[in-house]
Amino acid sequence: MKNIVILISGRGSNMQAIVNAEIPNARIAAVLSNNENAAGLAWATERGIATDCLNHKSFGSRLEFDQAMMRKIDAYHPDLVVLAGFMRILTPEFCRRYEGRLINIHPSLLPAFTGLHTHERALEAGCRIAGCTIHFVTPELDCGPIISQGVVPVYDNDTADNIAARVLEVEHRLLPQAVADFVEGRLKINGNRVINLQHRPENQPLLA
Ligand code: GRF
Repeated sequence: MKNIVILISGRGSNMQAIVNAEIPNARIAAVLSNNENAAGLAWATERGIATDCLNHKSFGSRLEFDQAMMRKIDAYHPDLVVLAGFMRILTPEFCRRYEGRLINIHPSLLPAFTGLHTHERALEAGCRIAGCTIHFVTPELDCGPIISQGVVPVYDNDTADNIAARVLEVEHRLLPQAVADFVEGRLKINGNRVINLQHRPENQPLLA
């Protein structure tokens, strides 16, 4: 069994997708948050999953918060830490501690649109496609080796909310798959590339 610790800041629908996937050989050891009002915390608690929260506002610096969070995380001996809508910029110390076992879901086709408001920015840029990226986390924001990406169309009358909903469905498929692939040792990091040892048609890029 591999221990998974999931970090969230809000709704937690990606965390729910991981839990609901009942991934073989994966145990959701804990769901942690920086926001005590995160709806996902209540959802996890109801299902008997350990939860905990640290309010980043009660710490003097980003590093002090990260150090306290690392202590919480390490208590669960994680094999994998998943950032599932965890809206904090992480210190290099945090990223290095979990190097190779820390993954993030980002709602854009990286390297386009790192940071916030990705769907608004994709619309403003006139993009005809949008999507999400699952990647290993490195100290540079939203830049680590890419595990998988999902693509959706952008239609003429779309709003950022429409796109977000369309992309979210894809997130809910790709994130549990990435966790399962990690747990089964199928992901090999080679420089900035990730090789998935299991060939799957849906891992291939969208072709016209
Ligand atoms: C997702 O779109 C994720 O990609 C982004 O924040 C959102 C979190 O949604 N980082 P949820 O909390 O998983 O429902």
